[in-house]
Amino acid sequence: MLSAEELAAIWTLDDFERLAPTKMPLPALEYIAGGAGAGLTAAENRTAFNRIKLNQRVMVDVSRIDTRLRLLRREHAFPILLAPAGYHKLVHPEGELETVRGADLSGATFVAATFSTVTYEAMRATSIQPLWFQLYIQNDRGFTKELVQRVLSAGCEAICVCVDVPVNGPRDRELRAGFKLPAGIERANLSGLGANIAAGSHRPAGRNIYSITHAADVTWKDIEWLRSFIPVPLLLKGVMNPGDAMAAADLGCDGIIVSNHGGRSLDTLPASIDALPLIAKRIGKRIPVLLDGGVRRGIDVFKALALGASAVMIGRPYLYGLAAGGALGVARIVEILRTELGMTMGLAGCTRLAQISPDFLLS
Ligand code: FNR
Repeated sequence: MLSAEELAAIWTLDDFERLAPTKMPLPALEYIAGGAGAGLTAAENRTAFNRIKLNQRVMVDVSRIDTRLRLLRREHAFPILLAPAGYHKLVHPEGELETVRGADLSGATFVAATFSTVTYEAMRATSIQPLWFQLYIQNDRGFTKELVQRVLSAGCEAICVCVDVPVNGPRDRELRAGFKLPAGIERANLSGLGANIAAGSHRPAGRNIYSITHAADVTWKDIEWLRSFIPVPLLLKGVMNPGDAMAAADLGCDGIIVSNHGGRSLDTLPASIDALPLIAKRIGKRIPVLLDGGVRRGIDVFKALALGASAVMIGRPYLYGLAAGGALGVARIVEILRTELGMTMGLAGCTRLAQISPDFLLS
């Protein structure tokens, strides 16, 4: 683990990514860094951000830059959240508990995954800040309901239902590296479903289309059902189509997350930043639209907000931070990104998030 001084001498999220191969075994690296299929969408998530050019205004008093926003009933200090990701024990012995500590140090809201390697209750007991939860609907809907009720009684602030991986897809890098869950690492939230599902192979041999850990028959009826007993904000994660975004809003979802799962679900989907404008236009101000996929610089956060997102989430970068420096590494990642966002705002010529608009982009 790097010390606080060493972490402070790392300046970009890409530098953390370059360090990652020295901080974790190859199969874990291939699982985390890889994408769906040949990784075209994962790469596109980055290049699409870089294609967008900014339109700068000068002679603006930017002596007070404010990145605060109100999002789903609470104020956040900046519009950057930590996306759900499975199996943090792959890169740190304390797993998600260490991530929670990093989230607390940084002030970023963490979305705990169904596939966490410690229970939601344990994370909640460790965290100072509110914690969100990402749900994968299980074949056993009775268990799914119990799981939701468990996280709600533990004080969960919001639930993101991830809907973009109903079946397994090929992931070339992960498959070639022979990634499987190491002994002793399990999906702690699912232990009630038995060892086969809680600790079973991440991708059973033989390239099964169906997964034992996700239901393949999830439809809008399930969202209606979840809405009927979830009193906290409910978000749909993995929306890439304006029609789906509208359906989610019509069913009473409180937010949507434009996401192609970091390019890990269906290869050759467009970059999430390219899918955002149409979706944001259709949704208007009805419900907040969040975005993830390829956010690596404060400039990317700025561009996402200019195209209609209320906030962004990051996935791989904070896992690289966790691997490099535990909680301090996670906090350093967030610090870099939020500082860069403030710098971008000032240099582009605005001081509040509400001022960030398409006017700051060259069309
Ligand atoms: C993920 N992601 C994810 N999403 C989800 O809803 N449930 C999950 O269990 C996981 N697991 C997971 C594992 C790993 C290793 C990664 C990298 C990602 C997707 C995640 O929430 C997010 O959509 C992407 O990571 C965002 O893209 P970037 O920031 O990684 O480019």
